[in-house]
Amino acid sequence: MSASATPLVEIRELTVSFAQHDGLVQAVRGVTLHVDPGESLGIVGESGSGKSVSCMAVLRLLRSPPARITATKLALAGVDMMQADKKQITGMRGRVAAMIFQDPMTAFDPVFTIGHQIIETIRVHRNVSKKAARAEAQDLLERVKIRNAAAILDSYPHQLSGGMLQRAMIAMALSCQPQILFADEPTTALDVTVQAQILQLIKELQQEFGMGLIMVTHDLGVVAETVDRVVVMYGGKVMEQAPVQDIFDSPAHPYTKALLGAMPGQADGRARLTEIPGASPNPAAPPTGCPFHPRCPVADAQCAAEVPPLISVADGRQAACWRLT
Ligand SMILES: Nc1ncnc2c1ncn2[C@@H]1O[C@H](COP(=O)(O)OP(=O)(O)O)[C@@H](O)[C@H]1O
Ligand SMILES: [Mg+2]
Repeated sequence: MSASATPLVEIRELTVSFAQHDGLVQAVRGVTLHVDPGESLGIVGESGSGKSVSCMAVLRLLRSPPARITATKLALAGVDMMQADKKQITGMRGRVAAMIFQDPMTAFDPVFTIGHQIIETIRVHRNVSKKAARAEAQDLLERVKIRNAAAILDSYPHQLSGGMLQRAMIAMALSCQPQILFADEPTTALDVTVQAQILQLIKELQQEFGMGLIMVTHDLGVVAETVDRVVVMYGGKVMEQAPVQDIFDSPAHPYTKALLGAMPGQADGRARLTEIPGASPNPAAPPTGCPFHPRCPVADAQCAAEVPPLISVADGRQAACWRLT
């Protein structure tokens, strides 16, 4: 990062917990990460590791209470999201940061046409005529490679296939020309062929628009082709952070190695993900020390007793592990 560039996303020592009648769910336990302008970051980890909650915290999408959020820094494009008022927060969403989800039906209202919803989104953020907004909406649908864009504008969400709807949601997210796109498991519900097409599309658009990207996924395969850098999360913590190629070529953390080992193998013909042995930590009663120690093949007494700090292991690389070799 050059000294002058303000990061698109800057999170330092973020903790998020949820007060529940029977105790505190510690969803995020001290996460630090950043995304520079135009950069793409993958956040990878098993389900429940705190990926979505971290993103929702910086977008201020968590209701509080029950969420309790602390951070020494929580900023979007230089704006302090801890201090921001309701109006500022609403202004940031869409214009600065847009989000796409696993289920596009959460983004669309079933009772309005696709066109109506994209046009309204454009007009909320910018003072343009309905006609100009419609032309822009059609152009956006074409850019996400929807054929018959004019006809699709007049379609209702349920009339589109899952892949098409995903494309339409991406078009709607891009309609405000955001500086950063948060994509939370955007292809998890799609079949493999469509998944590859959508990932390719997101990557192309990210480069074309010069946007930042956060790609949240439980699947390392998804980030392999789509991001510059990867943050690996486990039990609400960052385990490792490195350029994507290093994650695959020389993973530092035993958890990253285990994730790689669980990927579908080309050589041995495994078509499906295998599971890492053991259960992921209970966020209501997280283990002492390193959260991965109960499942870690190289853990020792120190790993069970003390939380390993995230330290620099090479240029641009960090890991949190007592047993780095
Ligand atoms: N609103 C909520 N209330 C209570 N617990 C929650 C809430 N949202 C998320 N959690 C818990 O926080 C943890 C992290 O969730 P999440 O960030 O969604 O995981 P991921 O996206 O990595 O799968 C999980 O244990 C989840 O059950
Ligand atoms: Mg999630």
